[in-house]
Amino acid sequence: MIIDSHSHYDDTRFDGDREELLLGLKNQNIEKIINVGYNLESSKMAVKLANTYDFCYAAVGFHPSDAKDFTENEARKLIELTKDPKVVCWGEIGLDYHYDNINKEQQKAVFLHQMEIAKELKIPVAIHTRDAMADTIEIVKKCQTPGVFHCYSGSLEIAKELVKLGYYISFSGTVTYKNAKNVKEVAKWIPSDKYLIETDCPYLSPEPLRGTRNDSSNLKYTAQHIAELRNVSVEQVVRETNGNTKRLFGIV
Ligand code: NI
Repeated sequence: MIIDSHSHYDDTRFDGDREELLLGLKNQNIEKIINVGYNLESSKMAVKLANTYDFCYAAVGFHPSDAKDFTENEARKLIELTKDPKVVCWGEIGLDYHYDNINKEQQKAVFLHQMEIAKELKIPVAIHTRDAMADTIEIVKKCQTPGVFHCYSGSLEIAKELVKLGYYISFSGTVTYKNAKNVKEVAKWIPSDKYLIETDCPYLSPEPLRGTRNDSSNLKYTAQHIAELRNVSVEQVVRETNGNTKRLFGIV
């Protein structure tokens, strides 16, 4: 059975069938899922889901796209949420320079502040970085606290640097895409105790379902593809990623 280390079941695209879908995951060979927040509302929803379903865990945090709404009040409320034993991660946090009209300085300040909070709370972080790797690494080096680079899309060279800093790297459905040469290289190289797998659902369905709404039952395609890249069995990939996910987030 597979663990989905990063999902967004609070997304409105699941409003029509969330409960049915979640309850059906055990029959789809899904052992556990971690539902990740991106602002205060979605973090609250993640905690609610984690308290409704025993196999569900939560991450709380502010995504860089929501950085403008992060104040001391939000920080206090998120810290309060981490007292719930089903909250195992702070995220997703990071930097996203993909779109125009973004405030880089604000994103950097909010990212660093959340890294410091997570370090203080001794809770691992889930890092999102898009078109912003150099600045992300600068902050990560400034405030080293354990965690995972989710939905990794960087180079092999940078992956080596991140692993040296102690970070885990998580692969989503993008590793199955034909043009994802860098990510495939990283998946081949990554030490067996340093990688996770995730859906990031409802986004990023793996091949052959690219473009459709994603859910955890599709993780088997991602695991299969990584097994082929590493020339090992899919069972080995699942055993390794499950072990790594449990170790990082302290879940049994
Ligand atoms: Ni995500």
